[in-house]
Amino acid sequence: MAPRVDEIADGIFRICTHRPDGLAEGLVYNQFLIRAEQPLLMHTGMRTIFPDVAEAVRSLVKLEDLRWISGAHASRPDEFGSVNDFLAAAPNAEVVAGKVAVNVCLRHMVDRPARALANGEVLDLGDRTVRFLATAHVPFWEAGVLLDEREHVLFCGDLFTVEGNPPPVSDADLIAPALDFERRLQHFTVSAHLPPVLRKLADLRPRMLACMHGPAYNGERCGRCRRWPPTTTPSPRSREHKEGRNGARDRPCRRRLGGEPGERRGQRQHHRRVEV
Ligand SMILES: [Fe+2]
Repeated sequence: MAPRVDEIADGIFRICTHRPDGLAEGLVYNQFLIRAEQPLLMHTGMRTIFPDVAEAVRSLVKLEDLRWISGAHASRPDEFGSVNDFLAAAPNAEVVAGKVAVNVCLRHMVDRPARALANGEVLDLGDRTVRFLATAHVPFWEAGVLLDEREHVLFCGDLFTVEGNPPPVSDADLIAPALDFERRLQHFTVSAHLPPVLRKLADLRPRMLACMHGPAYNGERCGRCRRWPPTTTPSPRSREHKEGRNGARDRPCRRRLGGEPGERRGQRQHHRRVEV
């Protein structure tokens, strides 16, 4: 099934594949394409979905122009599973990730040498930049996130994973649904390492959190990430949770092709669905 493609911020595209994967409501696997002079693909997806993901990427940039491939944690098949397929199809692409990810995983996995970034190092994409931030042990030793410094979109991998097929961009609560997922599936992002990492990420004041398995969370909700995991655990069936899951606060699109009203004051207006 062809992935859904949405422009979630200026020049940043979410390529979303929804799969059942043994869950009642399924799970989304998101890749993100930053369109720049040197385009960057964040996550490759699994090998099984490579043809459809590659087609979606090709609808946004020529694969010959794809310059960088990155991910939040190198040891997972949804982050780098089809990296060698992409390297074969994109002759000018180079893998880039944190030093630990490159030294522990990627230099043994990928068919071309990978570039290693130090914590805090900036990668120049020509007309925009991304900054790498190591998040050791959240969820794995080699983990890290990328911040698009122009739009302040934070690509945060498995953090705030939720079940189901949420809208591309959401104003919903990001804490209760993620905590519910952790409780039910014993996912792996909650540990003693998590609170200081979330505080550090919140200090970056991202305008959007782009999740691998979830929506892209908007605006002021991003600051709430420093509160997760909360000291008092909300009920998974709390009103806030239900509102988030049932869509009362979800916004399927702030602006689709053809135009939809509802833009909130002060928020950027770049979200639109892209026909692949
Ligand atoms: Fe993942």
